[in-house]
Amino acid sequence: MKFFIDTANLAQIEEAQNLGILDGVTTNPSLMAKEGITGSDNIMKHYVDICNIVDGDVSAEVIATDFESIIKEGEALAELHEQIVVKVPMIKDGIQAIRYFSEQGIRTNCTLVFSAGQALLAAKAGATYVSPFIGRLDDVSTDGLDLIMDIRQIYDNYEFETQILAASVRHPMHIVHCAKIGADVMTGPLSSILALLNHPLTDIGLQKFLEDYKKGN
Ligand code: E4P
Repeated sequence: MKFFIDTANLAQIEEAQNLGILDGVTTNPSLMAKEGITGSDNIMKHYVDICNIVDGDVSAEVIATDFESIIKEGEALAELHEQIVVKVPMIKDGIQAIRYFSEQGIRTNCTLVFSAGQALLAAKAGATYVSPFIGRLDDVSTDGLDLIMDIRQIYDNYEFETQILAASVRHPMHIVHCAKIGADVMTGPLSSILALLNHPLTDIGLQKFLEDYKKGN
C-alpha cells in the first residue's frame, strides 16, 4: 500500500519523507490556502518545491471546471515537473478531460468521488488514481470504507488499472482498514500516519527494557 501525505505544508512533507515511508503527496486548493499560498505563480512554485522534497507522485488540482480550461490548466501543471499528477474533479467535463489526458500520457487523479458509479466512470475514462473521500462520507453517516470495498470489487471484476487512493483519511484505523480492504494508496494527514506508531505496550515494554539494562550496568 502506498502512503501519500495530504498537505501543502513543506515541513510536514519533509518529516514524512525523512521517516522513509512516503510515496507521494496530495494537495487541494483548501490545503494550499491553509498554508497561505495564493496566486497562480506562487501555487505553481509551491508544487515544484513539493516535488523537490518527495520522490513520488504529487497531485496538483485544477481550478477550471470546463473542458477547454481544464486541459489548458492541466497541461501547464503537468509541464511543471515529471512527478505531477493532474487532479481533476468528478464532473462531466472532468471525465472528458481525464480521457484526453490519458490519451496524451498525462497522469490524473479523479477527485471528489463519493459513489461506486463515479469511480467506475473515472476508471473507464482512464484515470491513474481515483480518490474516494472516506472521512467526508463518515461525516454524513455513510460508511466510507464500504465505498472502498465496492470500488475494489468493481475494479477487480474488470481488471481496471486505476489505483484506489483512499482520501479524506482522518485517523490511523482508517489506514489499517483501507489496507485490509486492498486500497492501493491512502492519503492522510501526518498526525494519522504518525499515530500508527503508537501502542502503550510498546512504551511500557521499552521503559522496562531500558530500566533493566541500567540495573545490569
Ligand atoms: C484528497 O486528495 C483530499 O485532498 C483530501 O483527502 C480531503 O480530505 P478532507 O476531507 O480531510 O478535507
